[in-house]
Amino acid sequence: MKLPTRVKLIDVGPRDGLQNEKQPVSAEVKIGLVHRLQDAGLKEIEVTSFVSPKWVPQMADNAEVMHGIRRKPGVRYSVLTPNMKGFEAAIAAPREEWPDEIVVFGAASEAFSQKNINCSIAESIERFAPVVAAALDKGIDVRGAMSCTVGCPYEGEIAPAKVGYLAQLMKGIGVQRVDVADTIGVGTPRKVQAAMEATLAHFDVAAVSGHFHDTYGQALVNTLAALELGVWNFQSSSAGLGGCPYAKGATGNVATEDVIYMLHGMGIETGIDLDKLIDAGVYISQALGREPNSLASKAIRTKRAG
Ligand code: HMG
Ligand code: MG
Repeated sequence: MKLPTRVKLIDVGPRDGLQNEKQPVSAEVKIGLVHRLQDAGLKEIEVTSFVSPKWVPQMADNAEVMHGIRRKPGVRYSVLTPNMKGFEAAIAAPREEWPDEIVVFGAASEAFSQKNINCSIAESIERFAPVVAAALDKGIDVRGAMSCTVGCPYEGEIAPAKVGYLAQLMKGIGVQRVDVADTIGVGTPRKVQAAMEATLAHFDVAAVSGHFHDTYGQALVNTLAALELGVWNFQSSSAGLGGCPYAKGATGNVATEDVIYMLHGMGIETGIDLDKLIDAGVYISQALGREPNSLASKAIRTKRAG
């Protein structure tokens, strides 16, 4: 199949990237990251999550971050909302501070659903349904994240049929597009394609994105495997930040810098300025006191230093 000529990236660094950080990261730094990402040309940014601060303390400043960001026209800002309480908190601010899109997040694995959001898959869909309806009613778009579509830290390998089942449930409650997530980065190309194909049975290819953690170094080949199926939406984190607090051992998302280097090298457009993005990754890495977790960033910075 001919590969897509253009790819859209959602940088999930401010949310997925930072949610697992044990050290406090100020709202100011998070806002600074969002600004640098949009200045680099990102058109979609996952900013924060309206989850329980007891479960994920790092996201407790969600409202402050949403209030502080300077919106750039044409950029879509999304937030995670697991239940009505989270959705109501996300729209408690004036309308101009509302997210453009909310994300309900479920799992293809029962055990992970319990660990991450404290309910079964069926219960999660019951909780999401009113959230989806309320968002659509208010003109806010809805995405559904599907965790553990290839493997689960508690259940092991996940059959594609379970992914298809979750995708069908998401579709049934009005979710407009879905993320096929390899939460713990265990996937390899054929397995990722099987999870994608199970999802594509229920959603149009334009409504499916790949969300690959890079724990086993497979995220870039998995991205290519998804591109081969025509998928052209992907999620990644600048500087390769990330991990889920309820997925032990899961490391960061694939680095946005590495994905862009690969795509641009293949002649696939992203609209993103790689140099500016590298600087965004350096900014957040310095705030965290470490080096960016991206080989493309490292190589290009070494060359720059000449
Ligand atoms: P629960 O304990 O079952 O909820 O948690 P509850 O309804 O029984 O409420 C318990 C307490 O939490 C109450 O407070 C509620 O008010 C409060 P208390 O009376 O004890 O003081 N509460 C909330 N507070 C703020 N915001 C809310 C909210 N809801 C309840 N929205 C819940 C259920 C879903 C809330 C909890 O399990 C939770 O917050 N989980 C978050 C898990 C999370 O954020 N995980 C990381 C994101 S998912 C991810 O990273 C994967 C992804 O990247 C894709 C991939 O890679 O796989 C998306
Ligand atoms: Mg994730």
